[in-house]
Amino acid sequence: MKPISLATLGQFKKDKHKFATITAYDASFAQLFVEQGIQVMLVGDSLGMTVQGETSTLPVTVEQIAYHTRCVRKGAPDAFIIADMPFMSYATPEQACANAAVLMQAGANMVKIEGGSWLCDTVKMLCERSVPVCGHLGLTPQAVNVLGGYKVQGRDEVTANQLMKDAIALENAGIQLLVLECVPTSLASSITEELLLPVIGIGAGSGTDGQILVMHDALGITARPPKFAKNFLAQAGNMQDAIRLYIQEVEAGIYPSEAHSFE
Ligand code: KIV
Repeated sequence: MKPISLATLGQFKKDKHKFATITAYDASFAQLFVEQGIQVMLVGDSLGMTVQGETSTLPVTVEQIAYHTRCVRKGAPDAFIIADMPFMSYATPEQACANAAVLMQAGANMVKIEGGSWLCDTVKMLCERSVPVCGHLGLTPQAVNVLGGYKVQGRDEVTANQLMKDAIALENAGIQLLVLECVPTSLASSITEELLLPVIGIGAGSGTDGQILVMHDALGITARPPKFAKNFLAQAGNMQDAIRLYIQEVEAGIYPSEAHSFE
């Protein structure tokens, strides 16, 4: 299979070809995901909860994301790997550049940062220095202490308008992908239509260009999964078929259904 690039994802958006992505933290699962057809993986700071047993993503460090990125890269040499920049690792543009360098040198193709317009200078600085950037809006788990919990975002007109403005500002600053987490389906669809770049949803309904799931949610490992999660292993019976089912349901627009979405 030809290695996937941001241009491929841009073409998927133009062709209205929906694509499935997943989190990965180690070489074995990364290899399994690639073998079933996943071409884009996120080394998410969700590893704080899924791998380390923490109660939030805040304790995760740059070195830990770099370690897991190296593991995933070894299992998936041709995949497009996005590495999460942990809490406070991009508090200033200069810090962002130094820490993004560590993650890119560990094997990432792109870094992901959580937040709105305040990040525009950081995005510009990273892009100018050849680091592709993925934005992350809506429920941004690193801000859990400000948001007051893991809650759906953009439910009222003011916050919905702000999310749209942030998305446009980040695209203008240079992000090339956007993750939208836990926002109402109609808002996520409007943002997806407004932006030229591909939008990947999680708990954002079926109107986005792609979907992402935390692998532990997709494989039924999470003890108390969020509403938008689906246990594909329960239906498929084994991990390989579960991942193939996930991809098929995303491509066919079956997942996420209304039962897995917010309005
Ligand atoms: O850390 C993570 O796994 C994420 C996804 C939920 C998008 O940011």
